[in-house]
Amino acid sequence: EKGAFRHFMEKEVHEQPESCQRTLSAYLDPVAKSVRADIKASIDFKDITRLQIIACGTAYYAGCIAKYAFEKIAGLPVDVEVASEFRYRTPAMTAGSLAMAVSQSGETADTLAALRWCAGEGLKTAALVNVHTSTMAREADILWPTHAGPEIGVASTKAFTAQLSALLSLVVCAAVQRGKIDAAQEAHYVQLLLETPGLISQALVMDSELSKVAAIDLSKSSDVIYLGRGAMFPLALEGALKLKEISYIHAEGYAAGELKHGPIALIDEKTPVVVIAPDDELFEKTASNVQEVAARGGRVIMITCVPEKVPALSGDAAKSLKIIKGPACDPFIAPIIYSVPIQLLAYHTAVHKGTDVDQPRNLAKSVTVE
Ligand code: M6R
Repeated sequence: EKGAFRHFMEKEVHEQPESCQRTLSAYLDPVAKSVRADIKASIDFKDITRLQIIACGTAYYAGCIAKYAFEKIAGLPVDVEVASEFRYRTPAMTAGSLAMAVSQSGETADTLAALRWCAGEGLKTAALVNVHTSTMAREADILWPTHAGPEIGVASTKAFTAQLSALLSLVVCAAVQRGKIDAAQEAHYVQLLLETPGLISQALVMDSELSKVAAIDLSKSSDVIYLGRGAMFPLALEGALKLKEISYIHAEGYAAGELKHGPIALIDEKTPVVVIAPDDELFEKTASNVQEVAARGGRVIMITCVPEKVPALSGDAAKSLKIIKGPACDPFIAPIIYSVPIQLLAYHTAVHKGTDVDQPRNLAKSVTVE
């Protein structure tokens, strides 16, 4: 039931402190500050030469975000591909690869077919799924569950942050097993993950400010651009997908560094640009993209936890910049925390437009046909 919420999506966005907590509890030991022994026993990432993540839609973006962390922290090569491409192109697989399907439902036809193809090639398979009785859960060699609970809204929200919570926990597991981090560093990353539920609650406080931005800036636009760097690039893609799905507004996500290679031609005063800018090593570069957009008359909505680091803009450019302050967080967990404002922006835009938030046109919760 929706309880006090207007839509299942709104309820599910607000449930994320608990759904992430439940998922993290299945992967992390809060007392030992380590990855749980049963998770470590489910796999030895030392034996894995490469990780092939296969997924669709929002689950695909979760995989893309995880790639950054697996490669940086665990030194594990990762490929991520949408299942509908992977399954039809005869990919060249290397021995020792682990094929991992990421899926809320565990039933998505293309993801399942791709997983079965990998099994047929003799690869070890894993399913990171929210429905633990699903076909993928039953067929994969390893089941890595997420504990988001039933997700009713067609737009995936709490399943996405649960996927990120599980995937980042597996990154820590891989880094330990591959000898890339010691016990003290493991404790450090585990502690960061354990802090995410509280930070998600803090991020939810942005709700009313984001509702205003949605009403004033996004709901009246016909195109919106999302920008991010590093792991915030796939989050920008996810933000654009969320907006498209439920508000029917055309949106595109780009790697902020790609702006000058084409998309900057789209910038005008009618096209809001949502910039996702946590306090990471790429912040200055993202901030300079903000200046480029504002200098061309673009309206920027910048979501950041370090507004004090944003260089001052002059004249009209200053008026076109809106900064929304999020909670301070480490870059490792930023994809989880910054998911919240991205979801709320899409949600409130759809509400202002009066679309059917939980049952958007043409979409099904589970795509079990090709
Ligand atoms: O059940 P799955 O996670 O396999 O579903 C994958 C996509 O169909 C799904 O994420 C879809 O993109 C959502 N509507 C996104 O909000």
